[in-house]
Amino acid sequence: MTSIAVSSQKGGVGKTTLSINLAHAFARAGLRTLLVDADPQGSVGHSLTRQSRLLTGFYDFLADPRLPLERLLVPTRLATLALVASGQASDYEAGGGGTGTHLARVRGFLRLVADRGFEVCLLDTAAGLFGITSDVVASADAILIPQQAEPLGIRSVPKLLEGLTRLRIMNPRLNVLGVCLSMVQPELAESHQIAAALRGLLPPEWIFQTQIPRDPLFLRASARGLPIGVLDGGAAIQSVFEALRAEIVAKLAQPAALG
Ligand SMILES: Nc1ncnc2c1ncn2[C@@H]1O[C@H](COP(=O)(O)OP(=O)(O)OP(=O)(O)O)[C@@H](O)[C@H]1O
Ligand SMILES: [Mg+2]
Repeated sequence: MTSIAVSSQKGGVGKTTLSINLAHAFARAGLRTLLVDADPQGSVGHSLTRQSRLLTGFYDFLADPRLPLERLLVPTRLATLALVASGQASDYEAGGGGTGTHLARVRGFLRLVADRGFEVCLLDTAAGLFGITSDVVASADAILIPQQAEPLGIRSVPKLLEGLTRLRIMNPRLNVLGVCLSMVQPELAESHQIAAALRGLLPPEWIFQTQIPRDPLFLRASARGLPIGVLDGGAAIQSVFEALRAEIVAKLAQPAALG
């Protein structure tokens, strides 16, 4: 199994949107995929299942690792895609993170997910590379970083690099898949300038070719609790996530070449 944390220094950059649609792309490609809401605010659950607050989820497991994985798994309409909600114990996060106990429990969770036969596990995290998020990244095989295509987003890159350096000390095996620009508006020169600025700050292998366009359909999709590919007119954007999936698969095949 490959576990991928979807994380960023900055909030509101499109992590949850990317996680949901990328998980859908992996599942549609036939891989047994688990999407875990590791954000205590429970955004994935909120988008995809109306009663997510009632579900036992990831933070309940961190509070009590005797909980069987079966109790946490929420099936979806796609046989290859399941979810784990954030859970009711998400307040538990307040005191947590950065401790050996939590790290061991996140790793224990991922072992159970692998043993259950999942091939891909995507973990949507809260913004910032600290607390439980740092335990998740320090336990995952890889990290994918969405970056909003706006000037303020670029300013967070040095802090992102600092955070990655710290996390790679905790997890030397961490495969930095790289930064994926989101909410890109190709019709604007500014969007291209931001992409160029990013290329000046990061090694080329850390920047995804695939960019997520800004599109109002994303709002409609999250209002209906659906991945974008199942909406009328969503097929074109779904193909962007297919391309992202293919790029990730190619990067995972050559980890030695990375950073
Ligand atoms: N490509 C896009 N085009 C248009 N709107 C988008 C796009 N991606 C995300 N959004 C919208 O931007 C908002 C923030 O996105 P999202 O919740 O995915 O970010 P996030 O990084 O998970 O935020 P947080 O840090 O709060 O968890 C949402 O309202 C979402 O619908
Ligand atoms: Mg989110």
